[in-house]
Amino acid sequence: MGEGTEKPLNMFSRFISRIVANPQVYNVVQYFFGAPIAYRHVREAVGSLSAQQVLVDIGGGTGISLHFLLGDFRYLCVEIDPVKIGLFAGNQPHQMAILGDGTRLPIADTCVDVALCAFVAHHLTDSDFRQALSEAMRVLKPEGCFILVDPLWRPKHVVSRLLWAYDRGEHPRTGDRLLEMMAQYGDICEIRRFSVLHGYLLAVVRRAPVASGRLPVG
Ligand SMILES: C[S@@+](CC[C@H](N)C(=O)[O-])C[C@H]1O[C@@H](n2cnc3c(N)ncnc32)[C@H](O)[C@@H]1O
Repeated sequence: MGEGTEKPLNMFSRFISRIVANPQVYNVVQYFFGAPIAYRHVREAVGSLSAQQVLVDIGGGTGISLHFLLGDFRYLCVEIDPVKIGLFAGNQPHQMAILGDGTRLPIADTCVDVALCAFVAHHLTDSDFRQALSEAMRVLKPEGCFILVDPLWRPKHVVSRLLWAYDRGEHPRTGDRLLEMMAQYGDICEIRRFSVLHGYLLAVVRRAPVASGRLPVG
């Protein structure tokens, strides 16, 4: 769990979160809880990508992001859950599906234009999130960018606390905590905050030049 956070889980919420873990149920829930609105912000931040450009969707799940993004770009979905990536591969046989871990991306250095991390950070421990950031920076081209969108830990908001009780993500963080962690890996060039039941943060990070020594390892 992120620093200063506390997530209550009882048997009922475990039961609900197990149901939501089903990929088909998960897709419906994502739509209900505002994926179209969140992804409108992602689409604006990404812009339109050309056919030569590569976007890697870290923890891409069933590939929902592909429905909301613009352009004829090359899409790579890296997902650790075999059921979700299998569903994506079955529905989108012409896209690249990789069963893999975002903290150890099976991708060569400096070949990606956009690394997207949508609704994944709260599933990662601080150490894994740092490792995923480090990996994203490694695979990005020098002019590439990392885009994060994640629901926020807002303990004073009753609705937010309730939603976290049913979320399988065990590591919700405040917006300040997410920004503090990302700032260690590059320059934050865009920040958006918006609400769809949860409060959300979207941040765009430009890769820090390796020569400046600002690219932490691990
Ligand atoms: C809340 S879902 C978001 C899925 C997708 N990005 C979306 O927008 O619908 C979080 C996803 O992150 C995946 N995930 C968690 N840890 C991961 C890791 N270390 N590497 C890759 N994927 C991971 C989960 O399996 C899950 O599919």
